[in-house]
Amino acid sequence: MKSSEKRSFKQYPFSHSDLKAALGGFGTGITIVTTKNSRNKNIGITVNSFSSVSLDPPLVLWSIAKSAKCFQDFFNTNYFAIHILGEDQKVLSDQFAARHVDKFYGLACSEGIAGIPLLPEYSVCFQCKLEHRYEGGDHIIIVGRIHTLSDRSETPLLYVRGTYGTFVPKTGRTKLK
Ligand SMILES: Cc1cc2nc3c(=O)[nH]c(=O)nc-3n(C[C@H](O)[C@H](O)[C@H](O)COP(=O)(O)O)c2cc1C
Repeated sequence: MKSSEKRSFKQYPFSHSDLKAALGGFGTGITIVTTKNSRNKNIGITVNSFSSVSLDPPLVLWSIAKSAKCFQDFFNTNYFAIHILGEDQKVLSDQFAARHVDKFYGLACSEGIAGIPLLPEYSVCFQCKLEHRYEGGDHIIIVGRIHTLSDRSETPLLYVRGTYGTFVPKTGRTKLK
Protein backbone atom coordinates (compact mmCIF):
# COMPACT_ATOMS: atom_id res chain seq x y z
CA MET A 1 0.00 0.00 0.00
CA LYS A 2 1.36 3.48 -0.96
CA SER A 3 1.91 5.90 1.96
CA SER A 4 -0.82 8.27 0.64
CA GLU A 5 -3.26 5.33 0.64
CA LYS A 6 -2.21 4.38 4.16
CA ARG A 7 -3.15 7.89 5.33
CA SER A 8 -6.59 7.78 3.71
CA PHE A 9 -7.47 4.17 4.63
CA LYS A 10 -9.13 3.68 8.00
CA GLN A 11 -10.66 0.61 9.55
CA TYR A 12 -13.41 0.71 12.20
CA PRO A 13 -13.25 2.05 14.90
CA PHE A 14 -12.51 5.39 13.19
CA SER A 15 -13.18 8.76 14.81
CA HIS A 16 -16.42 10.69 14.31
CA SER A 17 -14.46 13.48 12.65
CA ASP A 18 -12.87 11.05 10.14
CA LEU A 19 -16.29 9.57 9.38
CA LYS A 20 -17.93 13.00 9.04
CA ALA A 21 -15.13 14.18 6.74
CA ALA A 22 -15.50 11.09 4.54
CA LEU A 23 -19.29 11.39 4.38
CA GLY A 24 -18.86 15.05 3.44
CA GLY A 25 -17.34 13.82 0.17
CA PHE A 26 -20.88 13.07 -0.96
CA GLY A 27 -22.21 16.43 -2.14
CA THR A 28 -25.83 17.19 -1.32
CA GLY A 29 -28.44 19.87 -1.63
CA ILE A 30 -29.76 21.62 1.46
CA THR A 31 -33.29 21.45 2.82
CA ILE A 32 -35.20 23.00 5.69
CA VAL A 33 -37.83 20.72 7.17
CA THR A 34 -40.68 22.38 9.06
CA THR A 35 -43.63 21.30 11.16
CA LYS A 36 -45.93 22.57 13.89
CA ASN A 37 -45.69 21.01 17.35
CA SER A 38 -48.48 20.10 19.77
CA ARG A 39 -48.19 23.57 21.42
CA ASN A 40 -48.83 25.17 18.01
CA LYS A 41 -45.22 26.38 17.73
CA ASN A 42 -43.42 26.50 14.38
CA ILE A 43 -40.48 24.06 14.30
CA GLY A 44 -37.72 23.80 11.69
CA ILE A 45 -34.32 22.25 11.07
CA THR A 46 -31.64 22.38 8.36
CA VAL A 47 -31.21 18.94 6.82
CA ASN A 48 -28.96 17.48 4.12
CA SER A 49 -29.88 13.82 4.69
CA PHE A 50 -32.86 14.26 2.38
CA SER A 51 -33.22 11.66 -0.39
CA SER A 52 -35.80 10.53 -2.89
CA VAL A 53 -37.14 7.01 -2.28
CA SER A 54 -40.03 6.07 -4.57
CA LEU A 55 -42.00 7.54 -7.47
CA ASP A 56 -45.09 5.39 -7.00
CA PRO A 57 -46.09 5.95 -4.28
CA PRO A 58 -44.20 9.27 -4.05
CA LEU A 59 -41.90 8.81 -1.04
CA VAL A 60 -38.92 10.74 0.29
CA LEU A 61 -36.79 10.34 3.41
CA TRP A 62 -34.62 12.34 5.78
CA SER A 63 -33.07 11.58 9.13
CA ILE A 64 -33.05 13.50 12.38
CA ALA A 65 -30.49 13.25 15.17
CA LYS A 66 -31.93 11.99 18.45
CA SER A 67 -29.87 14.75 20.09
CA ALA A 68 -31.68 17.55 18.22
CA LYS A 69 -33.76 19.86 20.42
CA CYS A 70 -36.65 19.51 17.97
CA PHE A 71 -36.34 15.69 17.81
CA GLN A 72 -39.46 14.99 19.87
CA ASP A 73 -41.51 17.46 17.82
CA PHE A 74 -40.60 15.71 14.57
CA PHE A 75 -40.98 12.27 16.18
CA ASN A 76 -44.56 13.16 17.16
CA THR A 77 -45.71 14.93 14.02
CA ASN A 78 -47.66 13.40 11.16
CA TYR A 79 -47.09 16.25 8.71
CA PHE A 80 -44.02 18.17 7.63
CA ALA A 81 -42.78 20.28 4.74
CA ILE A 82 -39.40 19.82 3.05
CA HIS A 83 -38.02 22.95 1.38
CA ILE A 84 -35.11 22.51 -1.03
CA LEU A 85 -33.14 25.76 -0.78
CA GLY A 86 -32.01 27.96 -3.64
CA GLU A 87 -28.43 29.20 -4.02
CA ASP A 88 -29.15 32.53 -2.28
CA GLN A 89 -30.43 30.91 0.93
CA LYS A 90 -27.19 30.10 2.79
CA VAL A 91 -28.12 32.53 5.60
CA LEU A 92 -31.43 30.71 6.11
CA SER A 93 -29.64 27.35 6.19
CA ASP A 94 -27.35 28.69 8.94
CA GLN A 95 -30.33 30.16 10.80
CA PHE A 96 -32.14 26.80 10.92
CA ALA A 97 -28.95 24.94 11.86
CA ALA A 98 -28.30 27.23 14.85
CA ARG A 99 -29.43 26.40 18.37
CA HIS A 100 -31.12 28.79 20.81
CA VAL A 101 -32.34 31.21 18.14
CA ASP A 102 -35.81 32.07 16.91
CA LYS A 103 -35.41 30.21 13.64
CA PHE A 104 -38.53 31.75 12.11
CA TYR A 105 -37.50 35.34 12.95
CA GLY A 106 -38.40 37.70 10.11
CA LEU A 107 -40.06 35.03 7.99
CA ALA A 108 -43.58 35.55 6.66
CA CYS A 109 -44.61 31.90 6.48
CA SER A 110 -47.87 30.67 5.02
CA GLU A 111 -49.77 27.62 6.30
CA GLY A 112 -49.78 24.23 4.63
CA ILE A 113 -51.60 21.00 5.42
CA ALA A 114 -52.38 20.63 9.14
CA GLY A 115 -51.13 24.19 9.69
CA ILE A 116 -47.45 23.41 9.00
CA PRO A 117 -45.36 26.52 8.26
CA LEU A 118 -44.26 27.01 4.65
CA LEU A 119 -41.26 29.23 4.01
CA PRO A 120 -41.81 32.15 1.63
CA GLU A 121 -38.68 31.39 -0.43
CA TYR A 122 -37.44 28.00 -1.68
CA SER A 123 -36.58 26.17 -4.87
CA VAL A 124 -38.87 23.19 -4.29
CA CYS A 125 -41.34 22.47 -1.49
CA PHE A 126 -42.86 19.08 -0.69
CA GLN A 127 -45.68 18.83 1.83
CA CYS A 128 -45.60 15.32 3.27
CA LYS A 129 -47.53 12.97 5.54
CA LEU A 130 -45.56 10.56 7.71
CA GLU A 131 -45.44 7.11 6.08
CA HIS A 132 -42.79 5.23 8.12
CA ARG A 133 -40.27 5.80 10.87
CA TYR A 134 -37.17 3.62 11.22
CA GLU A 135 -34.40 3.29 13.80
CA GLY A 136 -31.12 4.59 12.41
CA GLY A 137 -28.51 4.45 15.17
CA ASP A 138 -28.20 7.92 16.67
CA HIS A 139 -30.80 9.14 14.14
CA ILE A 140 -34.38 8.27 13.24
CA ILE A 141 -35.18 7.87 9.56
CA ILE A 142 -38.43 9.56 8.58
CA VAL A 143 -40.18 8.55 5.37
CA GLY A 144 -42.87 10.86 4.07
CA ARG A 145 -45.47 10.53 1.34
CA ILE A 146 -45.58 13.65 -0.83
CA HIS A 147 -49.03 15.24 -0.87
CA THR A 148 -48.21 18.45 -2.73
CA LEU A 149 -45.18 19.72 -4.58
CA SER A 150 -44.28 23.24 -5.61
CA ASP A 151 -41.32 23.49 -8.00
CA ARG A 152 -39.94 27.00 -8.63
CA SER A 153 -36.83 25.49 -10.27
CA GLU A 154 -34.33 27.86 -8.65
CA THR A 155 -30.63 27.00 -8.91
CA PRO A 156 -30.00 24.89 -5.77
CA LEU A 157 -27.75 25.59 -2.81
CA LEU A 158 -25.18 22.78 -2.54
CA TYR A 159 -23.02 21.46 0.31
CA VAL A 160 -19.77 19.50 0.02
CA ARG A 161 -17.18 18.82 2.74
CA GLY A 162 -18.67 21.42 5.08
CA THR A 163 -18.75 24.18 2.46
CA TYR A 164 -21.69 25.72 0.61
CA GLY A 165 -21.52 26.09 -3.14
CA THR A 166 -23.53 26.49 -6.25
CA PHE A 167 -24.17 24.29 -9.27
CA VAL A 168 -21.97 24.80 -12.33
CA PRO A 169 -22.96 22.54 -15.22
CA LYS A 170 -20.18 20.69 -17.03
CA THR A 171 -19.96 21.66 -20.65
CA GLY A 172 -19.14 19.47 -23.62
CA ARG A 173 -21.39 16.57 -22.75
CA THR A 174 -24.87 15.99 -24.07
CA LYS A 175 -27.64 15.46 -21.56
CA LEU A 176 -28.63 11.83 -20.95
CA LYS A 177 -32.08 11.10 -22.32
C1 LIG B 1 -25.62 21.59 6.13
C2 LIG B 1 -26.25 20.97 7.33
C3 LIG B 1 -26.97 19.79 7.22
C4 LIG B 1 -27.58 19.20 8.33
N1 LIG B 1 -28.29 18.05 8.19
C5 LIG B 1 -28.87 17.49 9.26
C6 LIG B 1 -29.64 16.30 9.11
O1 LIG B 1 -29.80 15.76 8.03
N2 LIG B 1 -30.25 15.79 10.23
C7 LIG B 1 -30.11 16.37 11.47
O2 LIG B 1 -30.66 15.87 12.45
N3 LIG B 1 -29.37 17.49 11.63
C8 LIG B 1 -28.76 18.06 10.55
N4 LIG B 1 -28.05 19.21 10.70
C9 LIG B 1 -27.88 19.80 12.04
C10 LIG B 1 -29.11 20.58 12.49
O3 LIG B 1 -29.53 21.50 11.51
C11 LIG B 1 -28.77 21.35 13.78
O4 LIG B 1 -28.22 20.46 14.73
C12 LIG B 1 -29.95 22.06 14.39
O5 LIG B 1 -29.48 23.01 15.30
C13 LIG B 1 -30.85 21.15 15.16
O6 LIG B 1 -31.90 21.91 15.65
P1 LIG B 1 -32.29 21.99 17.22
O7 LIG B 1 -31.30 21.16 17.98
O8 LIG B 1 -32.24 23.45 17.56
O9 LIG B 1 -33.69 21.43 17.26
C14 LIG B 1 -27.45 19.82 9.59
C15 LIG B 1 -26.74 21.03 9.72
C16 LIG B 1 -26.17 21.61 8.60
C17 LIG B 1 -25.41 22.91 8.73
